Amino acid sequence: MAIESSCDDTSCAILCDTRVLANRTAGQEIHRLYGGVVPELASRDHQKNIVPVVHAVVSEAGLNLSDIDAVAVTRGPGLMGSLLVGLSFAKSLALALNRPLIEVNHMQGHVLAHFIDSPLQKKPEFPFLCLTVSGGHTQLVLVKDYLDFELLGETIDDAIGEAFDKAAKILGLPYPGGPLLDQLGAKGNAKRFEFAKTKTEGYNYSFSGIKTSFLYFIQNALQKDKDFVQNNLNDICASYQAHLVNVVLKNAIRVLKDKNLHQLAIAGGVSANSELRRRIGELEREMTIQTFLPEFQYCTDNAAMIGIAAYYKYLKAEFSGLGLAPLVKMPL
Ligand code: KG4
Ligand code: ZN
Repeated sequence: MAIESSCDDTSCAILCDTRVLANRTAGQEIHRLYGGVVPELASRDHQKNIVPVVHAVVSEAGLNLSDIDAVAVTRGPGLMGSLLVGLSFAKSLALALNRPLIEVNHMQGHVLAHFIDSPLQKKPEFPFLCLTVSGGHTQLVLVKDYLDFELLGETIDDAIGEAFDKAAKILGLPYPGGPLLDQLGAKGNAKRFEFAKTKTEGYNYSFSGIKTSFLYFIQNALQKDKDFVQNNLNDICASYQAHLVNVVLKNAIRVLKDKNLHQLAIAGGVSANSELRRRIGELEREMTIQTFLPEFQYCTDNAAMIGIAAYYKYLKAEFSGLGLAPLVKMPL
């Protein structure tokens, strides 16, 4: 059984080896009122959700709690209060059932979601490059084995998901704006507007300047035409989304060439983005590489990805003690 509660989704899954028997996630509507995740409210909702979600998963899998062989949980990175709820619950369950506890790094979970059993999905072979794009992270990871990762580049400020969500907020779209911006952008002209480019060292990223340039762009345009946003919404979303996707893929392409790698996977919430998925398909044809998209349901935060990472740790008997503490920041 795996539990994920690092941000604002309370999720529980049961896996048998690499096969998902049940996977359920309770989202938290409350944050929409504030236009972003409020940590205090997130931990309170996790407390409300965790028992019903676990019960639902156990009954969907047709099991009893005593059938569980190990309890896995996200240790970090994430919000302290949110992590604490999942971790305390998992520790108690492991203690009560007398089963081993397995800590999982949330970012490793996103990458390893590619290995969840799925009849339609091909699996990458080691080594491969994984571009992990989420609400909290943007990372280029060389995946050498199931539990052997090398971080090659990452954002030095904001994550790409924040660049999506912030722009959506500026456009007056509800939180989390990423998926909505995607839907509107699909109907627009991606070549209509241009946005700022940023320079960073090595394979790192920076999205904070892009966010600010978007804000100024909208403010300037509104001064000339107060209806600018509503009259051009689809084209703004399409152009901005295409720009973010270009930025994020540019470094990935450089790594593939520099390191002579032939496989590119994407992971994390933003890997649900349709423009990114389309461009990955294009890259496969242009660069004669193999590309890998996680199954849509395993892109955004879910416990199945924690379960698959824990499965590989279970095989190596990598267990944790009950004194385990959450880590807000956790290196890959
Ligand atoms: O991985 P995730 O569920 O949570 C974190 O670990 O952060 O990622 C959430 C992020 C949010 O910023 C959300 O807006 C973004 O993923 N996202 C998308 C799409 N679906 C989710 N961004 C762009 N297009 C999408 N279709
Ligand atoms: Zn995530």
